[in-house]
Amino acid sequence: MTERALRTQRPKPADLLAWYDAHRRDLPWRAKRGRRAEPYHVWLSEIMLQQTTVQAVGRYYRDFLRRWPKVADLAAAPLDEVLAAWAGLGYYARARNLHRAAQVVANELGGRFPQTADGLRALPGIGAYTAGAIAAIAFDAREAAVDANAERVIARLFAIEEPMPKAKVRLRALTQDLVPEKRAGDFAQALMDLGAMLCAPKKPACGECPWAKACVARKRGIAEQLPRKAEKRARPLKRGAAFVARDKTGAVLLIKRPEKGLLGGMLEPPLGPWNAKFPSADNALSQAPFRADWKKCAGIVRHGFTHFELEIEVYAANLPRRPPITGTWVSPDDLGSVALPTVMRKIVAHALTRG
Ligand code: ADE
Repeated sequence: MTERALRTQRPKPADLLAWYDAHRRDLPWRAKRGRRAEPYHVWLSEIMLQQTTVQAVGRYYRDFLRRWPKVADLAAAPLDEVLAAWAGLGYYARARNLHRAAQVVANELGGRFPQTADGLRALPGIGAYTAGAIAAIAFDAREAAVDANAERVIARLFAIEEPMPKAKVRLRALTQDLVPEKRAGDFAQALMDLGAMLCAPKKPACGECPWAKACVARKRGIAEQLPRKAEKRARPLKRGAAFVARDKTGAVLLIKRPEKGLLGGMLEPPLGPWNAKFPSADNALSQAPFRADWKKCAGIVRHGFTHFELEIEVYAANLPRRPPITGTWVSPDDLGSVALPTVMRKIVAHALTRG
């Protein structure tokens, strides 16, 4: 079917809004019905929600607002305190950008957030999605907030077969076209709720959907197959060695990664460089952070990053004395409460079970 033919059965924003009024989720950052949310609240929640679930964010959101009720309070807080309050949400670059953006708003913009998507995008840590979401939700600007949920809903509604991520531009334009003159903020949130509550990736609840009649993918019986994904290109493989040292109490040595770059500022056991091949045993030992009775553990740790695959050989050592090295010694019981990325967690677990 052509897009032209589809125009005749265009989905009505009013149908989605009516559904939202009856079924909307009660979330801590949402304004009461008919009210507009505080820009500071909307911005804070949207930054926290990037790459994190609604469920995980609630506690952090409330804690931040209790400690820093206004954007000026957050701007004046020491960065270390903000980072500590952020611990557990991951991707610390977001917390740094949050703090920098708060300072721009508080110190350069008189405490007021820009009201347009373009103005918002100029702030650290705000991309196209977040700018659209804040402009719509906080200021009712006629902007779309196109996240993965919205992309799925719209791809199905118009049966867009073009695979992701190529389809993104078209999906954004189709979404923007649907945004109503009034209640743009509710419309953005309604799309999020529809995607999260009914138009799920698997087994969408089409029977309850306010747009079921307009949904072309549903008519064709292909809703669950959309949006299509491009064939995955093989990701390059990188390999390296990790060194998991334990003191007499069993505590594990973790060091901080450089602030910039992959997993910036997070903790890790000492690691050698990542190359196409594993280092030879001799070479690996020359990469170790200090001399010790390093023993290679059986097996390897694999982890997939967005742009490459990583394979790590793990060397473990039990130390009679802690060496003079800058780092943190963490007991296995406390590993759950430190900022240790998943790949590093796997490496430590590998050493603890096979070392
Ligand atoms: N995900 C991202 N932003 C959200 C919001 N404002 N409400 C619900 N889910 C979201």
